[in-house]
Amino acid sequence: MQEVNFGIIGSGTVGGGVLKAIQRNGPLMSSRLGVRLTLLKVAVKNKAKTRPVPVPASLMCTRWEEVVRDPRIHVVIEAVGGTKTAKAIVMKSLASGKVVVTANKALISAHGEEIFEAAQRYGVNFYYEAAVGGGIPIIKVLREGLVGNRINRIYGIVNGTCNYILTRMKLEGLEFDEVLKDAQRLGYAEAEPSLDVDGDDAMHKTGILASLAHGFWVNPKQIHMEGIRAISRMDIQFAERLGYTIKLLGIVKKLEKTSGPGRRRKGFVPVQVSVFPTLVPNSHVLASVNHEFNAIFMRGDVVGDTLYYGRGAGQDATASAVLSDLADAALDLKTGNMNRIPPFVPHEGEGTVLDIDEVVSRYYVRLSVVDRPGTLAKIATILGRSKIGISSVIQPEGHEGESVPLILMIHDASHAAMNRALTEIGRLPVIKAAPTMIRVETFD
Ligand code: HSE
Repeated sequence: MQEVNFGIIGSGTVGGGVLKAIQRNGPLMSSRLGVRLTLLKVAVKNKAKTRPVPVPASLMCTRWEEVVRDPRIHVVIEAVGGTKTAKAIVMKSLASGKVVVTANKALISAHGEEIFEAAQRYGVNFYYEAAVGGGIPIIKVLREGLVGNRINRIYGIVNGTCNYILTRMKLEGLEFDEVLKDAQRLGYAEAEPSLDVDGDDAMHKTGILASLAHGFWVNPKQIHMEGIRAISRMDIQFAERLGYTIKLLGIVKKLEKTSGPGRRRKGFVPVQVSVFPTLVPNSHVLASVNHEFNAIFMRGDVVGDTLYYGRGAGQDATASAVLSDLADAALDLKTGNMNRIPPFVPHEGEGTVLDIDEVVSRYYVRLSVVDRPGTLAKIATILGRSKIGISSVIQPEGHEGESVPLILMIHDASHAAMNRALTEIGRLPVIKAAPTMIRVETFD
């Protein structure tokens, strides 16, 4: 039987999870793959620390270089997180001819192209299944399962923290800050939650999915991102009355027709790549993805609509994805073909990320207005002048006082046009607070 030796760098949530999973299912994996998998080293920061998953003393070392430099090790699992040391580990491992496995989406988002180029140059492979969707094998779906499709749409609930918070806000009628505090207490949100709630984590993941789906590397700076801090209980409740649920969606849409760069730059396929809170119709399956679960809805031109659901975070879900990468690495070594599933393959046509100003969407708008005759006319005049159509107007009963909520549902309009119109509306004396604007997705 072929022997494949591997090392793990880091023994926190990811490293500990991989250790636990390999202790449990290593022999099963070996027999399924026809490869004997042996863990030779685990690099830890502090040997004396007590860990929930104890690292056998015989495997422990304290310097990551000891794993990377060990000539017996074929595969390195990078589980330190962050981008600085992680990048050094990845680059040195690839340069030493080792296959690398990581769960580190921030690293791939920031340095993906450079890492892929290095993997190719050194004739090794680089795997990152756990970087998106945790235990959902979504990278494999894009690279293998749907390889015969052009991917026209991806809608992903890819951040468990945001989904957990939005779900509880809806089910329990709570405000963002209340749920965030409780989520932190229960361990569903980090003490420093901004990477999750401001959208960065979802942006990194959405960028990776977009890049794989469309074959050009999406620069994270081109991805328009909005988090969930500004979502209020009131918006969630109004959305519910209108038949919608608010979800943070990563959206990747290939556009057939556009007045934007797709037209101006011949041969370039314009793709919307964005992350923002979205009103999802309750009849759509993504509206029922609750709590910390992730789900990715993907439309291929051959297969049609598909859905992938599961735990997007946590030790065991991540470990499951890392083991799948370890299996691929083992098969590369067994077959001697390191190019079997390259980490990233540019497609035949080039793509370009559509500027957010040109992204067209429907909108839910909540205004806080003075309740007197003529208010709606003033607002409608500005929207009309901007050629923005209103599909419905609701002034919910039961609100009294200096200002009352006014909900507008808007037909398709560009981001730029909506921004301009709302800025103008916001300046009207009858408007008492900054307007709230949330996109509505129709999944067409
Ligand atoms: N913090 C992420 C989430 C998991 O809440 O989904 C790791 O990507």
